[in-house]
Amino acid sequence: MEIAVAGVGYVGLTTAVCLADIGHTVICVDIDKKKINSLKDGNSPIYEDGLGELLNKNKDRLSYTTEEKLAYQKADVIFVCTGTPSRSNGSANLDYVFNVINSIKKSSNKDKVVVIKSTVPVGTCDKVEKKLNDNSKHKFYVVSNPEFLSQGSAVKDMLLPSRIIVGTDDLYSTEIMKKLYEPLTKIPYCAPYLLVDRESAEMAKYAANNFLALKIAYINEVANLCEKTGADIKAVTKTMSYDKRIGDSFLKTGIGFGGSCFKKDTKAFDYLGKTNGCEMKTVKATIDANQKQNLILLDKVLSTVDNLNGKKVAVLGLSFKPKTDDLRDSVSIANVDVLLEYGAEVNVYDPLVLDGFKKLYGDRVSYYDTIDEAIKKCDFAMIMTEWDEIVSYDLNKYRKYMKKPIIYDGRNCYDLEDVKKAKIVYYSIGRRKIGKDKV
Ligand code: UGA
Repeated sequence: MEIAVAGVGYVGLTTAVCLADIGHTVICVDIDKKKINSLKDGNSPIYEDGLGELLNKNKDRLSYTTEEKLAYQKADVIFVCTGTPSRSNGSANLDYVFNVINSIKKSSNKDKVVVIKSTVPVGTCDKVEKKLNDNSKHKFYVVSNPEFLSQGSAVKDMLLPSRIIVGTDDLYSTEIMKKLYEPLTKIPYCAPYLLVDRESAEMAKYAANNFLALKIAYINEVANLCEKTGADIKAVTKTMSYDKRIGDSFLKTGIGFGGSCFKKDTKAFDYLGKTNGCEMKTVKATIDANQKQNLILLDKVLSTVDNLNGKKVAVLGLSFKPKTDDLRDSVSIANVDVLLEYGAEVNVYDPLVLDGFKKLYGDRVSYYDTIDEAIKKCDFAMIMTEWDEIVSYDLNKYRKYMKKPIIYDGRNCYDLEDVKKAKIVYYSIGRRKIGKDKV
């Protein structure tokens, strides 16, 4: 079976490389020459744990091209993995998806299965199928196959998925998809394989992402209330996690969710509800609560720092979460913008994405590749991403290097007892404030 994967972003490239790893021959297609050339040279254009090794291991089964026609004509199955960013009204922008579909249609030379992995509103696969089959000599079978890859653990999530969802209504593609994913459903992977109708598969992705986003928004609101009432969110979430119905994941409190997925998928789900006359009140509440939460650390700064103008601030962690080089919709960006607006001098540290951040901010901020250097002589530090390097950073060094050892921790990285011992002024989320200093 010849497979083509359209789009070599986090989803497309991980999908391609993992499909090659389970024995398929895969051609990756992208219109971005730089990315394709980098892949041809054996280098991944994105950072994803384990991806580089698998790319190298499966190089004989992987090829890369910008020639769409060539790739689509060769393929029996085409995975569409392009982005679906938000439009200004919140709806999912499907231009990239339909550009690929148009190109597949133009290249039509035999019957094919087209698999939509991009996150698309319910009903999109129907539209795609109509478009492809309209006045076509060949038959296109369109399948919805949403992805549940989390950046930072995408390779693991693809090879050991919590579930594989295949949405299709015809027998031909049902058989093809079963064969394609068969290795992942057997030992050692043993992934549950769920065959559903196309609309339900499309809905399943939004429903899952929105539920996780809701869980984060909810627990952050509980954290804010903990702070007002003297409870401690870490103790509260620990007790909650013992209830199997609640579980222990997605209860990490902090400055809310960022990243390209939850932000766009909450907006798109809200829009889908509105346009179907079915208001999604919990989704709307998630968006609102998270927007507020993204700036909650700055609220703490503004209510405790007399004047930000000329203050020297260290912003620690820039990517939207650890173990990724993705800055899209990172909460750090919104916070750095406000700090600069108030006239603060901003030092930034991140173990992976300083170059990407430089492209956005140029010489408006100062870049450091060690925490020691980034916090030197700073008035206060703000922790934005819980990278291992930050979580394990010795608290005593804040006292050693900073003008005053004052930390606003947006990811609750430190234990309150340790903070007390190190004599740090410490603000975190949903917990007690330690120390009495003013900046
Ligand atoms: C998310 C989903 O977890 C994946 O299942 C999905 O496939 C993917 O979106 C997608 O739609 O492509 P991702 O955005 O990579 O994956 O990362 P998450 O680990 O879900 O984190 C998202 C945001 O939520 C991050 O900013 C993270 O810091 C925040 N978060 C996560 C919390 O604030 N608390 C938590 O307990 C968990």
